[in-house]
Amino acid sequence: MMSKKIVAPSILSADFSALKNDIEKVNASDADWFHIDVMDGVFVPNISFGFPVLKAIKQYATKPLDVHLMIEKPARYIDAFAKAGTTLLTVHYEACTHLHRTIQQIKAAGMQAGVALNPHTPVSVLEAIISDLDLVLIMSVNPGFGGQSFIENSYKKITDLKALIQKTASKALIEVDGGVTNKNAALLHQKGADVLVSGSYLFKAPDFNEAVLRLK
Ligand code: DX5
Ligand code: ZN
Repeated sequence: MMSKKIVAPSILSADFSALKNDIEKVNASDADWFHIDVMDGVFVPNISFGFPVLKAIKQYATKPLDVHLMIEKPARYIDAFAKAGTTLLTVHYEACTHLHRTIQQIKAAGMQAGVALNPHTPVSVLEAIISDLDLVLIMSVNPGFGGQSFIENSYKKITDLKALIQKTASKALIEVDGGVTNKNAALLHQKGADVLVSGSYLFKAPDFNEAVLRLK
């Protein structure tokens, strides 16, 4: 199947002193989703933002909210993210002892469910759960910060994931997050990525929408 070429700008790289402007920039562009990185300072060595900021984004965003939780024990907050208007909630494999239950709870709360894998985690750990997932997020940098460089081994993980999805007839989308730019987008699509997250590349670009189109 053709890859979908969904673009999800990462709000972590937006200007938080003028957040509404950047939300409207995404609304007015050819980007498809808002990618929203929530960090707790425990699972990753950084703290980003939580519900007050998420609510502010939801108030103006006209596109789906793709929320990437980089927090320990994310099951504690599933209902709160549903109430805040999340479309798709992604938790880290490495942060969930009872991943199967967490995925069922995300769906029961009315959201789509994704699982993210750190760079060191092989795709094979998802074998027993892949058919329940709406999305798998391959981290192509170590989570915690925007503006890092793409880890080359991520291509192989996309290939492995594509094979697992085809073998199991799963409908999961493949999302890639970290160091995505116009330089690697075409190869990422070729390997099977459906969703490209991009923060610093898009928000530093002189023309936001031209940069979005370069990722398609
Ligand atoms: C990193 C976040 C990413 C980040 C990507 O932990 O998950 O979504 O914002 O930023 P860039 O595109 O700058 O690597
Ligand atoms: Zn992210």
